[in-house]
Amino acid sequence: MKLKFDYNNMMESAIGEHGIKQSQIAEAAAAHAAAFSQVVDNSGKGWQGWTETPMLTAAQVAELVAFGKSVRDKASSFVVLGIGGSALGPISVFNALLHLHHNELPQNMRKAPKVYVEDNIDPERMSALFDVIDIKTTYFNVITKSGETSETLGQFLILYNMLKKQIGEAAAKEHMIVTTTDGKGALYATAVKEGFKVFGIPQGVGGRFSVLSNVGLVPFAVMGIDIAKLLEGARNMRAACERADITKNPALMTAFLQVLSMKDGKNISVMMPYADGLKTMADFYCQIWAESLGKAVDNSGKTVHYGQTPAKSLGVTDQHSQVQLYNEGPFDKVITFIGVENFGATVEIPADESAEAGSFLKGHTLNELITAERKATEFAVTKSGKSNFTILMPEVNAETVGELLMYFMYETAFAGAYLNIDTFNQPGVEEGKKATFAMIGRAGYEQKLAELQSVKKNPAYIIK
Ligand code: PA5
Repeated sequence: MKLKFDYNNMMESAIGEHGIKQSQIAEAAAAHAAAFSQVVDNSGKGWQGWTETPMLTAAQVAELVAFGKSVRDKASSFVVLGIGGSALGPISVFNALLHLHHNELPQNMRKAPKVYVEDNIDPERMSALFDVIDIKTTYFNVITKSGETSETLGQFLILYNMLKKQIGEAAAKEHMIVTTTDGKGALYATAVKEGFKVFGIPQGVGGRFSVLSNVGLVPFAVMGIDIAKLLEGARNMRAACERADITKNPALMTAFLQVLSMKDGKNISVMMPYADGLKTMADFYCQIWAESLGKAVDNSGKTVHYGQTPAKSLGVTDQHSQVQLYNEGPFDKVITFIGVENFGATVEIPADESAEAGSFLKGHTLNELITAERKATEFAVTKSGKSNFTILMPEVNAETVGELLMYFMYETAFAGAYLNIDTFNQPGVEEGKKATFAMIGRAGYEQKLAELQSVKKNPAYIIK
C-alpha cells in the first residue's frame, strides 16, 4: 500500500477532551471483530460484489484496453451519460488522472477525445453540450446499473435520436455503448435489440460501489487511463483492508473512529483534499458516505436515523471560506485532509523578481507553499481541539487513485457494519425515483401519483 493514514489528531493525546482515548479502541475489540468479519467474510457475496471488481485477469484487462483504443482512435468527443454512482466514479478518476484542462488542450497535445460526463438533466446543459461536440464523431457511453433511471434514459433517447438523424441508423448503433446489469432491465433489452455494444455490471455491485467495474473501466480505457495500475492499487488496498488487526487496517480504523465520533455528535464529515485533481474525489466520497450511511432503521428494524453529513472542501481554496468555521465553530465535525507529497509539476516563485510584495515567498515553490498551508491548517484545527486525520498520497497516479477508491469503499462498508445498518440499499433514493415515474405518467405508478396528488400546500405559507 502506497497511501499513509495518520489518525493522531483524532486522539485525546492531540486534541484533548474532544478526542478519542486509546482505551476506547482497545475496549471495542469485539465490535472490531464483528465489523471486520461482516465485511471480509462476506467478500464477493450479496451486495459485496464490489470487493471482487479489481480481480480482472490480464486477458480481461487487455480486452478492455483494446476496446478503449478502438473508440479513442475514432472519437472527437466521448460523452458519459449516467447519474449518481454511474457518474461520480468516472468524474473523480478523470479529474484525478487526466490533464486538469484536458478538453482545452490543443489537439496535438491531447491524447484522447474531449470528455464530458452528463450527470444532470438541466435542459440548458444538454443544449450547451451540442454547441461543443460534433455529434457525428462523438461516442456515448450510457451507464445505468438498473437500466431504469429516468434521467439517464431520457438523455439516451435524445442522443440516440439525434445520432440516427445525423449519421444514419447503422452508424448511430455503433456510437452507443451501454453499461448496465447483465441480462436485466429496460436498457439491456433495448441495447440487445438495437445491437449496441454492451458491457455488463455484475448483480452484486451497487452504483456507488461500481467504479472499478465496467462502469468505470470502460470510460477509463477509452480515455487511455492505465486501468491495470488502477486495479493493482485497488487490490493492494483490498489486501490492507483484509488485515484483521485494526491498528494495521486503515479502513477499519478510520471507520471506527468516524462512527465513534458520529455517536459523540460529530455529525459532519469534511473531505478536504489539497490537490485540484482530487476535488471531485471529495464528491465521490460524499456520495458513498451519505447514501450508504444515511439510514432510518438498523438491521434489527430499530429506528436510528444514522448518518454523518459529508461536506466537501478544497485546500487551499476553502481555507479562505470554510476553515474559520472548522477552527472556531462547533465540535461537530471530523475533517479528513488528503495531502500529496509529490505533485506532477513543480512551479517556482522567482527569487530574482524585483517586486517587493510577497518577498518572503521568493525562491520557494507553489509545491512548498501548498504543503506548508496543509500542515498549517492541520496544526490550527488540531490546536482548536477539532478531530481530523490525514491521508497522505505519495503522488496522484493510477495506482494511488485505485488505492484511494478502494479505501473509501471499505471504510464505508466497515462503518455500516459498525452501525449495523444496510450499507448497500438506498430506500430514500428509490422513493424519489418512483415519485418521478408517477409524475411523468409512467404506467403502473397510478397509486403513487394519487399519493402525490393528495399532498396539499397551504397557500398561506407561500410568499409571492
Ligand atoms: O449508488 C446508487 O445506487 C445510486 O446513486 C445510483 O448509482 C443512481 O441512482 C443511478 O442509478 P442507475 O445506475 O441504476 O442509473
